Amino acid sequence: MKQKIAFGEGEGDAWFERNKSKLGVGSDEIEQAINALQIRPKRILEIGCSNGHRLEKLRVRYGAECMGIDPSQQAIAKGKASYPGLLLDIGTADRLNFDSAAFDLVIFGFCLYLCDPSDYFRIATEADRVLTDPGWLVVYDFLASSPRRRPYAHRPGLYSHKMEFSRLFTTNPAYRLLARRYCEHGPELTYDPDEAVVVDVLRKDSARAFAG
Ligand SMILES: C[S@@+](CC[C@H](N)C(=O)[O-])C[C@H]1O[C@@H](n2cnc3c(N)ncnc32)[C@H](O)[C@@H]1O
Repeated sequence: MKQKIAFGEGEGDAWFERNKSKLGVGSDEIEQAINALQIRPKRILEIGCSNGHRLEKLRVRYGAECMGIDPSQQAIAKGKASYPGLLLDIGTADRLNFDSAAFDLVIFGFCLYLCDPSDYFRIATEADRVLTDPGWLVVYDFLASSPRRRPYAHRPGLYSHKMEFSRLFTTNPAYRLLARRYCEHGPELTYDPDEAVVVDVLRKDSARAFAG
């Protein structure tokens, strides 16, 4: 079974149920990374947004229009009730129901490790399509020095995939990695190179991609 089907049919809800009490508590690594680069987004999309807790912080801070998608029906329903200023919808990363160049900031909110590797090209194409040029892309996820997968702890047959996800974009010279911020994932910062979690901030700017 494709992982995106499993997440739409209950694993997304299960993740939300396990984690909902912690969502939105404390400072947010992505908010800090955006602020450090003085990015002032006007229209933001978070892919894998759960209930939209992060988007709500960004909406309040920047006065931006914020939209989010997630396969979890429960997370989206709860987010719509809690954060009426957001536009949230059920969806997956490989198919974005938005106009081209609709967002000046697109965030992958720690969901790429759960996506199907067979969808990576489609996922990158879709994010690139909805992002303005120039624009900002944030990739928040595990970082592994070489691609690997581990059984997903909560359901047999599913996997967590780890790699350097920004490389899905940086093979295109229009995308440049401008900042990498290492984050705590568990109770403490790990120094294991294959357990790292990062917020990567990429600048998309095709006009500057090729030197004259
Ligand atoms: C680790 S949680 C992160 C949630 C939130 N962005 C945050 O940082 O708190 C991963 C989220 O990705 C969602 N997800 C799983 N597969 C997905 C897919 N193919 N496309 C988009 N989101 C997906 C899950 O339902 C879950 O809400």
